[in-house]
Amino acid sequence: MSSVLAVDAPIGARAAGLAGAPQADIAVIRLTCAIGAELQGVQLSRAVHDDALFASLRALLLEHKVLFLRSQRLTRGEHVAFASRFGALEDHPVAGSDPEHPGLVRIYKSPEQPNDRYENSWHSDATWRECPQFGAVLRCVECPPVGGDTMWANMALAYAKLPEEIKVRIKDLKARHSIEASFGAAMPEEQRHALKARFPDAEHPVVRTHPETGEKILFVNSFTTHFTNFHRPENVRVGQDYTMGASQLLQYLIAQAAIPEYQVRWRWSPGDVAIWDNRATQHYAVMDYPPSHRKMERAGIIGDRPF
Ligand code: SIN
Repeated sequence: MSSVLAVDAPIGARAAGLAGAPQADIAVIRLTCAIGAELQGVQLSRAVHDDALFASLRALLLEHKVLFLRSQRLTRGEHVAFASRFGALEDHPVAGSDPEHPGLVRIYKSPEQPNDRYENSWHSDATWRECPQFGAVLRCVECPPVGGDTMWANMALAYAKLPEEIKVRIKDLKARHSIEASFGAAMPEEQRHALKARFPDAEHPVVRTHPETGEKILFVNSFTTHFTNFHRPENVRVGQDYTMGASQLLQYLIAQAAIPEYQVRWRWSPGDVAIWDNRATQHYAVMDYPPSHRKMERAGIIGDRPF
């Protein structure tokens, strides 16, 4: 059995009670010491037109990196309109979008597609693009009664906690991010090559600087295939060092997002919304539920080239 939110229909007495609350009434409840806050007293539909409310949400996003709001009465049109206030939206080349709302990507799981697994690995969205996403607004339409949580990790904290000698080693490293090796891997060869031709692998700094907060962020994830400039005298004594040294260091860095002290975990109900800063976080959709329906809709916001 699943709980379902009828799109465009009002939900929940709690949400109705919160609608129209003045902006000063936003309650900010931190969920962990590392990342994430739940906001109460806000309906995102208001932030579509209310500049002051939108500015408060944007500031809270920079501070907490992921915001959660329960019981939102948000139509698909309002979802797109709200997310578009942060910047232009983009579709996903593999996951389809709502035909009436371009930019609203459907992340739908059903008992008929139990092996359709892409989101249960730690990642920042679309780092295989030259300009990975700024962030995203994800709304739960339908979820299993238990399971199907999403987790986020604070990658600025992950960087800050690295041993100093690792920070020195990775300071100027760059890495490749590939849609071919991730979404493309299970495709027939021709289709995979066509995907790569449309989206050639991107190269990004291993440590990026957040363009708004100035924080340093560890920026490798499950889309990252290899370092592109590791093979330098300070890293490689003999050629044999190259493969082992580079891949072990990369795996160590990718594994940082899995450290619980950097994370927050959200248990969904229909109507809940998460807004995250994709530049400073990674996320992981936990596929621990038996074959059932889980329907999420994500508005992904186009970002800048990392530096
Ligand atoms: C995503 O990886 O963007 C989707 C997260 C989710 O479905 O919970």
